[in-house]
Amino acid sequence: MHIHNNYPLGDLNTFGIRVFAREFARVSSEEDLYPLMDHPAIRHGRHLVLGGGSNMLFTDDFDGVVIQMATTGKQVTGEEDGKVFLEVKAGESWDGLVAYCVDRGWGGLENLSLIPGQVGASPIQNIGAYGVELREYFHSLTALDKRSRERSTFTAADCRFGYRNSFFKQEGKDRYIILSVTYRLDTRPVIRTRYGQLADELAKTGNALPTISDVRQAVCRIRRSKLPDPEVLGNAGSFFKNPVVSTNFFRQLKERHPGVIAYPEGDRMKLAAGWLIEHAGWKGYRQGDAGVHDKQALVLVNHGKATGKEMLQLASAIRQSVYEKYNITLQPEVNIIN
Ligand code: FAD
Ligand code: EPU
Repeated sequence: MHIHNNYPLGDLNTFGIRVFAREFARVSSEEDLYPLMDHPAIRHGRHLVLGGGSNMLFTDDFDGVVIQMATTGKQVTGEEDGKVFLEVKAGESWDGLVAYCVDRGWGGLENLSLIPGQVGASPIQNIGAYGVELREYFHSLTALDKRSRERSTFTAADCRFGYRNSFFKQEGKDRYIILSVTYRLDTRPVIRTRYGQLADELAKTGNALPTISDVRQAVCRIRRSKLPDPEVLGNAGSFFKNPVVSTNFFRQLKERHPGVIAYPEGDRMKLAAGWLIEHAGWKGYRQGDAGVHDKQALVLVNHGKATGKEMLQLASAIRQSVYEKYNITLQPEVNIIN
């Protein structure tokens, strides 16, 4: 396998930040990973696993080895009453997988249509959208432990999924390379339309009995109407997580800001960070090429040549202003690579 020096990452991150990796390797077979683990920079130095680069902000050139997973393949590994188990290699496109499942009538992932990135990253932050989280259709994954070089299997319980969170963002951070993910899909799909905007979009079609294909199309229409296409405008989706607060805190906040939007999350409330940022005056803001999307204030955008540091400065200013206005500290969802 070829290791490139001084490799441009501008096209490999959806923010379009023009940085370079000191070394870069694209891994298209799992066998290639084992010799790579002997590379001095991996044994002793910095390295980073890159999927589709859709949840990353590079703030500088990367002084180490970037490993991009490009392994492909899907395999049915089991079937039981009403379920099919599909094992998918890490480098497969996430939305390609969703389309594949919908085409076969296998339900579960359709609400997660059009999320950019790869299968290998899907468990890292337990991707979620339109009322569904990955964990609901996740069965297990295999990963290579970079320290021991052993391959292990993680069940859903091992992954400790939470809202935009998992073991791989906590104790397991930077330790594993996810090789494949097995999903448990419904062969008798259940339509999930709890999310208000999705229900409204489906209602517009007048179709009282939507299929998973109808749900996929509706989700794609909603997403295209408000989220910027990274091919056109650099971004990494929501920059911050939606803050989860106590009902008490929420009540007090609502007294001061009656319009604030929130949804129950267990016995707590999840606040719409986009609303907080918009009402702190940031929607559509632009400084140089770093900006806030004019249709979705939770999405920071690169209008062209913003640097990662400029994007980060903007994020810090938003964070500070949201703290001053609402006494809430926003946490980034995007992985910031220093
Ligand atoms: P990357 O950005 O390349 O990596 C993300 C993290 O995963 C990094 O820490 C990386 O080191 C690690 N990683 C990647 N692959 C592996 C691997 N094989 N093994 C170990 N670690 C790995 N997210 C949502 O949850 N819901 C949404 O609705 C959503 N909408 C989005 C819309 C847009 C327009 C954009 C640009 C992003 C959106 N995202 C959303 C965020 C992003 O698409 C997801 O987090 C996605 O799963 C990231 O996949 P990726 O392959 O691009 O990962
Ligand atoms: N809102 C505003 N102003 C804004 C943006 C949003 O008032 O500028 C309001 C909306 O009107 C709506 C509420 O906030 O009432 C929620 O907005 P939206 O439905 O767009 O969802 P979100 O909470 O902003 C979350 C995820 C998205 C996911 C959507 C749909 C997080 C951090 N973000 O966004 O995920 O696609 O819900 O489920 O949880 C991502 O993670 O990158 C991402 C895009």
